Amino acid sequence: MDSYLRMQEISKSFPGVQALDRVHMEVQPGEVHALLGENGAGKSTLMKILSGVYQPDSGEILIEGRSVQFSDTRAAEQAGIAIIHQELNLIPQMTVAENIYLGREPRTKFGLVDFKAMRQAAEAELQQLQVRIPVQARIAELRVGEQQLVEIAKALSLHAKVVIMDEPTSALSETEVEKLFKVIRRLQQNGVAIIYISHKLEEIFAIADKVTVLRDGKYIGTCVVKESTAQQLVGMMVGRELADLFPKEKVQLGEELLRVEGLTVRHPSQSHRNLLEDIHLSLRSGEILGIAGLLGSGRTELLMTLFGASPGQLVAGKLFVRSRPVELHSPQEAIHHGLALVTEDRKAQGLFLQLPVQWNISIAGLRQVVKRWVLRHRLEKAMAQRYIDQLRIKVPSLAGAVETLSGGNQQKVILAKWMATTPSILLLDDPTRGVDVGAKAEIYHLMNQFAEQGMGVIMVSSELPEILAMSDRILVLSEGRMVAEFSREEASEEKIMTAATRTKAA
Ligand SMILES: Nc1ncnc2c1ncn2[C@@H]1O[C@H](COP(=O)(O)OP(=O)(O)OP(=O)(O)O)[C@@H](O)[C@H]1O
Ligand SMILES: [Mg+2]
Repeated sequence: MDSYLRMQEISKSFPGVQALDRVHMEVQPGEVHALLGENGAGKSTLMKILSGVYQPDSGEILIEGRSVQFSDTRAAEQAGIAIIHQELNLIPQMTVAENIYLGREPRTKFGLVDFKAMRQAAEAELQQLQVRIPVQARIAELRVGEQQLVEIAKALSLHAKVVIMDEPTSALSETEVEKLFKVIRRLQQNGVAIIYISHKLEEIFAIADKVTVLRDGKYIGTCVVKESTAQQLVGMMVGRELADLFPKEKVQLGEELLRVEGLTVRHPSQSHRNLLEDIHLSLRSGEILGIAGLLGSGRTELLMTLFGASPGQLVAGKLFVRSRPVELHSPQEAIHHGLALVTEDRKAQGLFLQLPVQWNISIAGLRQVVKRWVLRHRLEKAMAQRYIDQLRIKVPSLAGAVETLSGGNQQKVILAKWMATTPSILLLDDPTRGVDVGAKAEIYHLMNQFAEQGMGVIMVSSELPEILAMSDRILVLSEGRMVAEFSREEASEEKIMTAATRTKAA
């Protein structure tokens, strides 16, 4: 039987890189087909070709045996192909409903935009995902995870035959992933084909029927998921044996680097709500402190407040760095006291997308490359190159703009940028979001090294296996409060989830 959708011999190059080299993929109705590969393997590029964002240099796309060409995304949508992009594509100043129906707003009989119908339709789409996001809110007011859910709702509202999900869960918490999986299974029953990109192998084993693996722009193979093992897939992906993924090493803990007492932060607009309430924590030299909690539990807000960039209003709390009381009113002060923050949202906070890679890496560590007030290009380059090698960042050139890197490689550039500041307290917000298994292991390795050198690390993560494996201690947040603390030995996925889902009322 011929496939519903077939991509054959697809090639695409960009200046300095052959992103795809004669790649194949076939998809059937009602199938969840995973696309797997390391950062920069070409997954997003292949999907951008399928959804009309890019045109291939050569190769063909066939739908039900007929050759099709998509000059733009609208053309692909009309052929029944919708995509949820890895780098979110929403317009920040517009509302949730406007974003979902952008360019195809429901009209009244007078030809005007029917805002009421649009709101209701948007509400219905979000309802399907079982999420509560006000459709009148502007995208800019939402957190990354919520924006991701809006992007998902938008793609679903097209009622496409093929839905491409490019790392849809990278900013979602476990409960939201569950909800998304339910939606995927429902789509599947209705004969929709889903192409699912994720670096999380557990997800692929949980949801996918088939998996196609790419490596360095080349087609490696397609397997039935049920008949495959994780080791096999990783082997296909990286083409080499991989060392232990979680290399946690035991480090002797030293002096207290950071202490927080009674930290309370009020919501910026809703004065009756606190983003954070009465938080106490301490971090010692050599320690990795994990912070778990659902989306919206205050994890990101906590890190931002510690970094002097609180999204709300600081109403109470004391902060001590090496036992000295400090007040952090700005990131500059925080950096001065030896803090560094790797954010979850690389688009908004982490990177200057249009600027060269080397500049992005050295920007925060300028102290090291500025000598006698002159930015020394050679030093800047050497420093950038060192981190590129260490983290195996895949870049065509140091002078190339960051926006041309694959998503995972952009994440590595952010890490490199903050490492270059040689901080003593490193705050990591979902540091391995969108990073492939090989690079993940490298990042964990670096975290160990940092701890060994006496740095203290606070890591927020939605991935419980990562928190469990790397943390010396784990704090759980729920609705802005600390609801539990576990030592490395006593923690388990179940205990953390139970604590995280406990609400004030319960
Ligand atoms: N617009 C562009 N201009 C130049 N190079 C690009 C562009 N888009 C992608 N590339 C390059 O093509 C290669 C494949 O990138 P792609 O984004 O498809 O990788 P990916 O498999 O999606 O990786 P990730 O898991 O990190 O998202 C990379 O080397 C990337 O730098
Ligand atoms: Mg990608």
